[in-house]
Amino acid sequence: MLESPMLLSRVPSVPHGDPADRRTISYDDYVKTGGYEALDKALGMEPKDIIEVVKAAELRGRGGAGFPAGMKWSFLPPQDGEQRFLAINADESEPATFKDQVLIAFDPHQTIEGIAICMRACQLDTAYFYIRGEYHHHRDIFENAIKEAYTHGVFGENSRMGKVNDRWPNLYLHRGAGAYICGEETALLESLEGKRGWPRIKPPFPAVSGAFGRPTIINNVETLATVPPIITNGAEWFKTHGVPRPEGAPPHVPASYGTKLFGVSGPVNKPGVFEEHLGLKLSDAIEKFCGGMMHGKKYKGAIPGGISMGVLGRDQYEAELDFDIGKKYQCLGLGTACVTVIPEDVSMVAMARNCARFYSHESCGQCTPCREGGNWLYKVLSRVEQGDGTTKDLDLLLEVAGSMGSMPGTTICGLADGANWAVRTIMNKFWDEFEAAVSKERFVSLAVVGQ
Ligand SMILES: Cc1cc2nc3c(=O)[nH]c(=O)nc-3n(C[C@H](O)[C@H](O)[C@H](O)COP(=O)(O)O)c2cc1C
Ligand code: SF4
Repeated sequence: MLESPMLLSRVPSVPHGDPADRRTISYDDYVKTGGYEALDKALGMEPKDIIEVVKAAELRGRGGAGFPAGMKWSFLPPQDGEQRFLAINADESEPATFKDQVLIAFDPHQTIEGIAICMRACQLDTAYFYIRGEYHHHRDIFENAIKEAYTHGVFGENSRMGKVNDRWPNLYLHRGAGAYICGEETALLESLEGKRGWPRIKPPFPAVSGAFGRPTIINNVETLATVPPIITNGAEWFKTHGVPRPEGAPPHVPASYGTKLFGVSGPVNKPGVFEEHLGLKLSDAIEKFCGGMMHGKKYKGAIPGGISMGVLGRDQYEAELDFDIGKKYQCLGLGTACVTVIPEDVSMVAMARNCARFYSHESCGQCTPCREGGNWLYKVLSRVEQGDGTTKDLDLLLEVAGSMGSMPGTTICGLADGANWAVRTIMNKFWDEFEAAVSKERFVSLAVVGQ
């Protein structure tokens, strides 16, 4: 078990403290407890050396895809003296994901310090904190923390970071309008530019042509909040947390080092957000951190981190929650590591229908397989759930789902992969329930044969 948290060191969390005692850490409180020392250290380093430390730590993005942060930072083209951006993804709209909100509400300066270090490392002059529109309370807290950072010379004129690209560094908060697709990095950029949140075709990747056509780094809140402890304690210290790369994997496959915020929701006794080593077992998350299942309910399955990752099945209760989860347990990946526990009394057919409805509703509509396919999945699953489905419908569902997404190469962004993996993994792992749902058809055909 983790001895001392690195992300929630100031935020009481199970098992180190009582979440009821949480309060927002001010700039002064943050500084009193070692805050902004990592920035001071980074300011004494060459920008490229900061990137090397983050690369050596093998820090992987915490927004869902797990892309190595240091590698992303090194994709920027050489400086040309013009403006360059950092966009911080605080959209957090993946269903049942609520981990970034804890950092924003209770320790905003840890993220702000990570933002400043990233700007220094990548020589970025302007940062936009893109927060989902509905998070009014979090917006107020973060806006206040930004003001504090300006007052104490982190940003703005005469910033302690000095001028970058001949500009004083600035951090602005930008509110989204609350669309799930705006969490996708290029839709976020469109929205930031004041346009409709439609994902862009990649390449060019944002590091080359991002906000307003300029080089832009996009990172998740938790990814950036993990940077200050890495700079303070070093890459080797960071790598004593989490789990190494899988045995036999080539060196370019990144490991799952570090700690992670895990969020658990569903029928458990103590749902919430806590920090642990990557590689935490699902069974331990439920039993040791969340007080077990509520009302003696039995575990049936779990969503590892956003339904776009698919589901873990009945026999995957001992799954290790790390970035290798996809290969080991036949789901898309770890995603946000915000687990939704599914109890025995939930119908998986209803759940698949509900997921399909969500993706169909949230599709931006640019790609036909996502716009039309998503709606088909929803309609056919509704039919199956109502008892009017046939075995052919089950084949049709798997065929339609398998044809949508950026991995089969038919869509621009990963939203359609989310719909695809949700429906296919629920069907594959709970096939018995789908068979039972169409069994009425079998009775009808037997009756016809009997005549
Ligand atoms: C449909 C969709 C929604 C997404 N929503 C979010 C989100 O709410 N927050 C987030 O950090 N990343 C989200 N992502 C992932 C981002 O596109 C991007 O990979 C991430 O912000 C990069 O940050 P990281 O490298 O620090 O993880 C989403 C991706 C897709 C396809
Ligand atoms: S996959 Fe779906 S959400 Fe993504 S760009 Fe295409 S239509 Fe829009």
